[in-house]
Amino acid sequence: MTGLPRGKVRGARIAALGVYVPERVLTNDELSQFLDTSDEWISTRTGIRERHIARIDQATSDLAVEAAKQALERAAVDAGELDLVIVTTITPDMVFPATASIVAHRLGATRAGAFDLEAGCTGFVYGLAVATGFVAAGIYRNVLVIGSEVLSRSLDWEDRTTSVLFGDGAGAVLVSPTENGSIFSFDLGNDGSGAEYLGMPAGGSRLPASHHTVRDRQHYMKMTGSEVYKFAIRAVADSCEKVLSDAGLTPQDVNLFVPHQANMRIIEAAAKRLGFKPEQVFANLERYGNTSCASIPICLEEAWASGRLQKGDLLLMTGFGAGLTWGSCLTRWDL
Ligand code: UT7
Repeated sequence: MTGLPRGKVRGARIAALGVYVPERVLTNDELSQFLDTSDEWISTRTGIRERHIARIDQATSDLAVEAAKQALERAAVDAGELDLVIVTTITPDMVFPATASIVAHRLGATRAGAFDLEAGCTGFVYGLAVATGFVAAGIYRNVLVIGSEVLSRSLDWEDRTTSVLFGDGAGAVLVSPTENGSIFSFDLGNDGSGAEYLGMPAGGSRLPASHHTVRDRQHYMKMTGSEVYKFAIRAVADSCEKVLSDAGLTPQDVNLFVPHQANMRIIEAAAKRLGFKPEQVFANLERYGNTSCASIPICLEEAWASGRLQKGDLLLMTGFGAGLTWGSCLTRWDL
């Protein structure tokens, strides 16, 4: 027994952050030119106005490499010093090998292990928990966690119930040891009974690629939005309450709450249930849509650059998504 509250570890910090977002912006008005939708519907139901779309020659590893390079440059850490590269994504370059293997090679991380972590849109929080475990246990010193997505390739552009919601992007954090110890409390959760509500049905061992799966458009993302919506509000609020109470803290102690960016109505409902004031909550999905595993680090970059997130602030991050999974992380911002 260490005497530490459950879920709370010491000795790891976010030592650097990097982000990459493709240049091309796709607006709601452009979508309404080829889909039966409108800027009015998308913006009032979700808060999204535009999203970034990767170039045709860019895959998830390409975005990940750019975000990772920025994080390493800012930390003045050479790729050769990395111990582990974790890519969290629901849109890997291919089923295997792992996108992380490709990314680590491209970075020149010759000493590092590498693997992908798949936990739906909660991947970034799960990745951060794994990295923190390795660093806090003293196994590794430099672990890179990259959330990277090219969701535009897994969307059915004829399906207005999914294609208007998502965007492409990547964000990376370097997790390293610290003497004083940022607070790092985690809550990770899963309820596989909701697996059917969000996913890509074909292309795996259950339903391998065939003429039929292609004909039936089963290699695209499918979602029962209303079920995910109800789950998300409940999961975000419950997970935040749990991670805060494990750390002996309350919502009033939080300087900035950065939730996964899926729908402004989900963010507002969860924030209201938790009693957060608007100035405690960060959202930027208006300009990016839902970038899945990349949404939280993209928010961190903007919050940090604009001064809304400052050194010493208590930061609460919460993700949710396919699985169904959820997860929260509480940390003291150290950059
Ligand atoms: O990262 C985690 C993954 N995803 C999420 O967190 C998404 C969670 N769910 C949601 O954000 C919301 O459920 C949606 C934004 C997906 C949908 O919003 P909603 O308020 O739950 O709408 P709905 O699905 O109940 O659809 C209402 C109506 C339907 O028409 P009818 O049946 O009432 O005539 C839809 O066909 O809106 C229609 N609709 C659209 N209309 C215009 C659905 N998509 C569109 C669209 N444009 N893009």
